[in-house]
Amino acid sequence: MLIHSASQVLTLIGPPQRGHALGELGIIEDGAVLLDGETIVAVGPSREMRAIYADEEQFDAAGRVVMPGLVDPHTHAVWAGDRSAEFEMRIQGKSYMEIMNAGGGIVSTVRQTRAASLKELKAQTRSRLVGMFEQGTTTAEVKSGYGLNTETELKMLQAILELDAEGPLELIPTFLGAHAVPAEYKDNADSYTDLVCNEMLPALKDWWQNQPATCNLLPFVDVFCETGAFTLAQSRRILEIARELSFPLKIHADEFDNLNGASLAAELGAASADHLVVTSLDDMVALGKSDTVAVSLPCTPFGLAEGHYTPAKDFLDANCILAIATDMNPGTAWCESMQFAIALACRYLRLTPAQAIAAATINAAAAIGKDDKIGSLEPGKQADVLILNAPDYRHLGYRFGSNLAHTVIKKGHIYPIGD
Ligand code: NIG
Ligand code: FE
Repeated sequence: MLIHSASQVLTLIGPPQRGHALGELGIIEDGAVLLDGETIVAVGPSREMRAIYADEEQFDAAGRVVMPGLVDPHTHAVWAGDRSAEFEMRIQGKSYMEIMNAGGGIVSTVRQTRAASLKELKAQTRSRLVGMFEQGTTTAEVKSGYGLNTETELKMLQAILELDAEGPLELIPTFLGAHAVPAEYKDNADSYTDLVCNEMLPALKDWWQNQPATCNLLPFVDVFCETGAFTLAQSRRILEIARELSFPLKIHADEFDNLNGASLAAELGAASADHLVVTSLDDMVALGKSDTVAVSLPCTPFGLAEGHYTPAKDFLDANCILAIATDMNPGTAWCESMQFAIALACRYLRLTPAQAIAAATINAAAAIGKDDKIGSLEPGKQADVLILNAPDYRHLGYRFGSNLAHTVIKKGHIYPIGD
C-alpha cells in the first residue's frame, strides 16, 4: 500500500538522537510511504513514489502529517482499582510519600491487584490500552509491580502477554517486583530484596522460558531506587542478579531524591534510567557516556501538581539520549496520551516539538531496545505509522486536550480513528 500526499512525512531515519542532535525529523515535504504487509519498503516524495508504485493500493493522506507510531517506553498500565481519593488528598496538601508511608500509594493498588482475577485485571487494563492506541501509541512498555509476591507478579506478566497477543497495541513487558516494599515486609526491605533476588527472579526466568516461543526475549527487570522504596545498595543487588540471569535492565531513579541510581544504570548497561527530576551532574555525565537512555516522565510531576521537571537541557548538554514516556499509572499519572506527554515536554522540559517527537519515537524505541524495529519510517522497519489530523508536525505539542490521531497503522493494519 502506498500512503501518499502527506504534507510532511517525518522519517526520523537514523540512529537514536544523542544530546543536541535531538530533533532531526528527516522531513519529506509532500511525502509518501510504501508498506508491504507488516514492513516499510520505501519512503520518498509523493510524485516519484506514485509514478513508480502506481499499481499499489493507494492511501491518500490528503495533506496530513505521516510519522512513526508513538512509542511509550514507561507505563504501569496493568492494575486493578483506582486511587481517586488519594488524588483529592494530594490536592488538599498531603505528599505522595506521606500517603505511601500511611499505607496508601502503591501498596493500596497492590491490595486491589492481588484480589483481582486475571480476567478482571485484563478487562480493566484493556480499556486503557485502547485509549493509548487511539491516541497514536503503537508500542508500549508495561511493568508489573502491583503484585509484590511471586504469584501476583506472574499474574500481571501473564496479563501483559495475553493483552499483547490480542493486539493491536504491542506491549513490551517489564518485571518490577521491586516497586515497593509490601506490607508483610514493612520495615524489612532487606528481606524483601532477598525474596526478589532469591525467589522471584529465578521463578520469573523459569516461568518465562515455559511461555510460547513467540516471547523468547526476556522481559526487562526494573527497580524503584528511591528513599522509602529501595536503596542504591538494594537496587544494585537486584539488578546485578538480574543481569547474571541475562535479563535486560531498567531503573526508576531521581523522582524525589538523588541516590545515584542513574549512574548505576549506566554502569550496568541498563536500557534506560527513568524519571530523572533531581539527577546530579555526575549522574548525567555517566548517562551521557553510556547508551542508557534517559527517560523523562513529564506527566508525573504534572499529575502530582509539582513544579519540578527533568532539566532536559542539562541532559542534552551532557550528551544523553533523551526519551519521554507517560508513566501511565493509577497513583501519579493516569495519562494514556503520548500526545499530552509531548505537549508537557514542550512547555516544562522546553523541548521543541521536533525534539519532543524524536524523544517519543526513535529515542523511546531505544529505551526499550527496539530501535532496530520501530521508532522511524525506514525501509525494513515494522509498518507502525501515525497519520495526524494536522498539516504541520508542530501541531503536536502546540495543541493539547484533543486527539490529533486520524489513522493508526499497526504492522500494516489500518485503524481509522477520526477526522
Ligand atoms: O513511576 N515511582 C514509582 N512508580 C510509579 C508510581 C506508581 C504508583 O503510584 O502507583 C511512578 O511514578
Ligand atoms: Fe514508573
